[in-house]
Formats: sequence, structure tokens, C-alpha cells
Amino acid sequence: MLQRMCACLGDITQIPVDVIVNAANPSLMGGGGVDGAIHQAAGPTLLAECKLVRQQQGECPPGHAVITGAGNLPAKAVIHTVGPVWHGGEQHEADLLAEAYHHSLELATANDYHSISFPAISTGVYGYPSAEAARIAVATVNRYVTRRGHPERVLFVCFDASTLALYQQCLADLAAHKSL
Ligand code: APR
Repeated sequence: MLQRMCACLGDITQIPVDVIVNAANPSLMGGGGVDGAIHQAAGPTLLAECKLVRQQQGECPPGHAVITGAGNLPAKAVIHTVGPVWHGGEQHEADLLAEAYHHSLELATANDYHSISFPAISTGVYGYPSAEAARIAVATVNRYVTRRGHPERVLFVCFDASTLALYQQCLADLAAHKSL
């Protein structure tokens, strides 16, 4: 299943896939970081759809995910997931981060999307240590695609070289059958 996953350096709003994952906040009303970039690139329809989701479902708790259209983005849909804020690791942050990836993959599979891109969820404003977050991301996605055979392609889109190096190391460890 390793060939299904790869890491690259770039702007997630510029890379065509079936579904782009956004690192959102529970309000779903946009923000800075990748959330701001995705809303900016998608255009105002994305916020309008998020408002509708909010009316129907309320806030999106950490670890959960919702799906909308993609506006002007090079994708069919956006999955908005909320990662945990890092509080030192004693408040189930690792479980919540894994759930954010898992629920995003569940939504992609349920909507029959074959390719998905993830940013490094929670490693910016939310302060999650990047190396541990990368390990959780790769391990969670690998477990899911190994068991479910979906999606066919998973892209970890890194916004800086140091984050990319962490993902490449995790993928190399996986290839060498080392435990993550
Ligand atoms: N493409 C890919 N990755 C990006 C982009 C982009 N255009 N912009 C930022 N990133 C990266 C950051 O460098 C970081 O590695 O996304 C990762 C996640 O950082 P944040 O966007 O800050 O997300 P997060 O740490 O999950 O915090 C979420 O920030 O923007 C607000 O509304 C958002 O309140 C929420 C919080």
C-alpha cells in the first residue's frame, strides 16, 4: 500500500486531486494558515457551504470532519477536519489527530473519491510537534488504506522543506518495515 502514499512540497490549493483536506477550526468559518489559503482559492461559495453545514450540524469538534464542494479549487470537494490544539500531549491529542485523518478518509471513501491531499494538520497554529504529527498521519493513513484499499492515492502536501523531510522519513521507515 505504500505506493499509494507520497509526500510533496507545495501549496495544497494548487494540486489537482479529487478531494482536498482543510485543517479547519470548529466554527468552519475560515481562518489563517491553510484554512485561509483554501477559502481564498476556492472563493466565497466555500464559506457559504460551510455556513450551511454549520446550520445543519453545528460546530465540527476536534477529530471530526465534514465535506463541501470545492468552489474554484482544482478538486471535486473539500473535507474540513479539525485537528487538536497541542496542550502538551496529555489531553488525547494523538488520538484526536489520528481521528481527524481517519474520518477524512472515511468521508472520501463514502463519496467514492480516489485521490486525496492532506496538509500537516495541527502543526501550525495548533502547535502540534511536527515529527510526531507526521508519524501519526502516515501511520493512520497506512492502516486505513491497507485495510480498506481506498483511496487509490494519498498526497501529503508539505508547505516547507523541514515538514517534507519528516514525511519522507516516515514513508522510508514504512518501506523498510520499521514501526512508525
Ligand atoms: N498548502 C499546504 N500547507 C499549508 C498551506 C498551503 N497553502 N498553508 C499552510 N500550510 C501548512 C502549515 O505550514 C502547517 O504545516 O499547513 C499546516 C497546518 O497549519 P495551520 O494551517 O496553521 O493549521 P493548524 O495548525 O491545524 O491550525 C488550525 O489555524 O488557520 C487556522 O482556522 C484555522 O483555527 C484553525 C487553525
